[in-house]
Amino acid sequence: MSYKAAAIIIAAVLFWGLALGLRIEAEGFWDFPPNLPPEEYGNLIINRTSEKNGVKAVTFSHWSHRRKHTCRVCHSELEFNMKLNTTEITEESNKAGRFCGACHNGKLAFGHGKADCEKCHNGNRSYGKGKFSELSHFPKTVAGNKIDWVKALEKGLFKPSVYLKDRPSDFPFEKKLLLQAEWLNIPPAVFPHKEHIQWLDCNNCHPDIFNIKQKTTKHFSMPFILGGQFCGVCHLSVAFPLNDCKRCHPDMTQ
Ligand code: HEC
Ligand code: HEC
Ligand code: HEC
Ligand code: HEC
Ligand code: HEC
Ligand code: HEC
Repeated sequence: MSYKAAAIIIAAVLFWGLALGLRIEAEGFWDFPPNLPPEEYGNLIINRTSEKNGVKAVTFSHWSHRRKHTCRVCHSELEFNMKLNTTEITEESNKAGRFCGACHNGKLAFGHGKADCEKCHNGNRSYGKGKFSELSHFPKTVAGNKIDWVKALEKGLFKPSVYLKDRPSDFPFEKKLLLQAEWLNIPPAVFPHKEHIQWLDCNNCHPDIFNIKQKTTKHFSMPFILGGQFCGVCHLSVAFPLNDCKRCHPDMTQ
C-alpha cells in the first residue's frame, strides 16, 4: 500500500470515528429533547389565562392541524407566535373570528357553543390521539411524529391549505444551502428552501430567525440550536427533531 493510500484510510477512520464518537457523546453532552410518543410530539397545552380564569387548559395538536393547514396559515396569516403561551388568544377574540375562531366557527371546524368548550378546554395533551392511526399509511421516519411530512406532501397523501383569506404571492425560491459547520470534520448541514416554503412564508424565518445573507447569522451552532434558536425554533417541537442527525447532516453515518 502506498503511503498516500494509507494516509487516506487513516484519515477516513479518524473522521468517521470522530463523527460517531461525537454522536454518542452528543446525546449525553448536549441536552436533547425528551422522546415523546409520536402521537404527542407537537401537542401543546395552552395555559396563559385558562386556569387563572377557572377553565381547564387548552389542548392543541400540530399533527392534527398540519394535515389540513400549512404553518403559514396560522403563523403568518392568523398571527400565532411560534412560542407557547405568548399569543394573546382570548375567548373574546376567538368568538370574534380571530385566532382559533378563524376556523372554529361552526363552519370550517366545530364552533364555540356550550357543547364545544370541553373539546378545547380539557387539559389533556393527548386529546384526539385516536385519529393518529389515520396517518399510519404515511411514509415513516425515526423521530418526532415518526412521519415523513415532506414525502407525504410530495406524494399528495394530504393537501393542506396555503391560506384562508389572504392568498400569498407566489415567490418560488428553491436555493439549497450547505451550512458548513465550524468544527473540523463535521459534515455540513443542508438547508433546502424548497421543502420549507411549501409550509412557511419567507417572513416566518427572515429576518427574525436568520439573516438573508448566508453565514452572517451569529452564533449559528448546535448549542444554540438545541437551546431553541435558529433551526431549533421548529426542529425541537414541531418539525422532525434534532435527534434525526442524518436528515440535516446527510453525510453523517447515522
Ligand atoms: C391551526 C393552526 C396552526 C398550524 C397549522 C400550525 N401551528 Fe404552530 N402553533 C399554533 C398555536 C396555536 C401555537 C401556540 C401559540 C401560543 O401559545 O402562543 C403554536 C406554536 C408553535 C410553536 C412553539 C411550540 C412550543 O413548544 O413553544 C412552533 C415551533 C410552531 N408552532 C411551529 C409550527 C410549524 C413548523 C407548523 C407547520 C408544520 C405549525 N406550527 C403549524 C398553531 C398552529
Ligand atoms: C377552539 C377551541 C376553543 C373552544 C371551543 C373554546 N375555547 Fe375558551 N379559549 C381557547 C383558547 C386557545 C384560549 C386561550 C387560553 C390560554 O391562553 O390559557 C381560551 C380562553 C378562554 C378563557 C380564559 C379567559 C378569556 O376570556 O380569554 C375562558 C374563561 C374560556 N376560554 C372559556 C370558554 C368557554 C366557556 C367555552 C365554551 C362556550 C370555550 N372557552 C370554548 C380556546 C377555546
Ligand atoms: C386554520 C384553521 C384552524 C385553526 C386556526 C384552529 N383549528 Fe382546531 N381544527 C381545525 C379543523 C379543520 C379541525 C378538524 C375538524 C373538526 O374537528 O371540526 C380541528 C380540530 C380541533 C380539535 C379536535 C381534536 C383534533 O386535534 O383534531 C381541537 C381540540 C382543536 N381543533 C383545537 C384548536 C385550538 C385550541 C385552536 C387555537 C389555538 C385551533 N384549534 C385553531 C382547524 C383549525
Ligand atoms: C435541523 C437540522 C439539524 C439536525 C437534525 C442536526 N443538526 Fe447539527 N448542525 C445543524 C446546523 C445548521 C449546524 C451549524 C452549521 C454551521 O456552522 O453553519 C450544525 C452543526 C453541528 C456540529 C458542529 C458544531 C457546532 O456546534 O456548530 C455538530 C458536531 C453537529 N451539528 C452534530 C449534530 C448531531 C450529532 C446531530 C444529531 C444528534 C445533529 N447535529 C442534528 C443542523 C442540524
Ligand atoms: C425555515 C426558514 C426559512 C424560510 C421559510 C426561508 N428561508 Fe431563506 N434562509 C434560511 C436560512 C437558514 C438561510 C441561511 C442563513 C445563514 O447562513 O446565515 C437563508 C438564506 C437565504 C438567502 C441567502 C442565500 C445565499 O446564498 O446567501 C436568501 C436570498 C433567502 N434566504 C431568501 C428567502 C426567500 C425569498 C424566502 C421565501 C420564499 C425564504 N428565504 C424562506 C431560512 C429560511
Ligand atoms: C420555521 C420553522 C423551521 C425552521 C426555523 C427550520 N425548519 Fe427545517 N423544516 C421545517 C418543516 C415544517 C419541515 C417539513 C418536515 C417536518 O415537519 O418534519 C422542515 C424540513 C426540513 C428538511 C427537509 C428534510 C427532507 O426530508 O427533505 C431539512 C433538511 C431541514 N428542515 C433542515 C433545517 C435546517 C438545517 C434548519 C436551520 C438552518 C431548519 N430546517 C430550520 C420547519 C423549519
